[in-house]
Amino acid sequence: MGDHPQVRAALAAVDEEHYTLRPDGSLVRQSTAASAIARMLERLDVRPGMRVLEIGTGSGFSGALLSELAGPEGAVVSVDVVAELNERARDLHKARGRTNITLITGDGALGAPGEEPFDRIVAWTTPQVLPRAWVEQAAPGAVVLTPVELAPSVRTAAVLRAHVNRAGVPEGEKLFAGRYVEMHGQELKQWLVPPRGVDALVRAEDGRELWISAPWAAEDGDAACDMLAALADGPTEEVPVLEPEESAADLTAYLYARHAEDIGVVGLGGYAWGVGRADADGVAVFATAVQGSIVHGGGPGPLERLRAWVAAWREAGRPGYADLRPVLTREDAGWRVRAQLSNV
Ligand SMILES: C[S@@+](CC[C@H](N)C(=O)[O-])C[C@H]1O[C@@H](n2cnc3c(N)ncnc32)[C@H](O)[C@@H]1O
Repeated sequence: MGDHPQVRAALAAVDEEHYTLRPDGSLVRQSTAASAIARMLERLDVRPGMRVLEIGTGSGFSGALLSELAGPEGAVVSVDVVAELNERARDLHKARGRTNITLITGDGALGAPGEEPFDRIVAWTTPQVLPRAWVEQAAPGAVVLTPVELAPSVRTAAVLRAHVNRAGVPEGEKLFAGRYVEMHGQELKQWLVPPRGVDALVRAEDGRELWISAPWAAEDGDAACDMLAALADGPTEEVPVLEPEESAADLTAYLYARHAEDIGVVGLGGYAWGVGRADADGVAVFATAVQGSIVHGGGPGPLERLRAWVAAWREAGRPGYADLRPVLTREDAGWRVRAQLSNV
């Protein structure tokens, strides 16, 4: 963690378990680890007296930290799509005498109409684009910190820091590694398949659910299902590709910048999923659980393509998140965010 005395003081002032544990001692499923929250709060830079909009109340812990940072002169408005979480957080804040925080149940993509303007906006759930409502509800100079997708495929998110200028237009500043659950419209009943953005899904005989998110799969769902069915039945291999000192996260950042339209994201069953290349013949992806290796199934085409991308990444000097620059483009729902390599 960096050296940010206000964030450290807030962490010391808030009892994490008061928020993250249920009365039977179990962890609230929708909790974020304190270290990850601290990193976000350091980047958000909340000062006393500010008005803060939080999207994704979850356990209420991050809201309590925001309320501490904003202080008695400031205010926090926290939105979650799950009413039970809001009611629970409201009771917990009340029990600790936190009166500068308001809980709202609804779709966070709409922000908190009527509660604006906000000096800081932070999200713990991933929208596809930077929502228009957040920008409209931002005060001039406001900072927005949110995970957001950097490619047409789901789970291609990084954390965007942007500020909203005096003309009400968001200007991207930086991108950091990190993502949270995709924004969804109602309480999730399962956590294995993304709640949106999946273009084809196949259930294998052993119950595994294989899925894909990729522009070509959105156009040709039948071919995508056939490929996934073959993947479920056929063998897969782990092909070592990266050297120990090479970072799969940096490579992924490079792929977002250079091949946003060409990458595919594939669910391999259970919690395993990866980013890489997929076509109607097969897949080759860097899977979350397999450090430095490509998981390959089906024909050789995707593996060859991904190997060529790795070679180009090495030739470019192995750029990573630190080399990314966000580029925002206006769309109906908000601002689409893509990454560019800053030295290009
Ligand atoms: C990672 S959790 C937040 C954890 C929280 N920061 C904490 O400290 O416990 C993400 C939250 O986002 C919420 N969420 C997902 N989609 C949403 C949406 N469309 N609008 C509002 N909240 C949403 C989920 O219900 C979940 O509680």
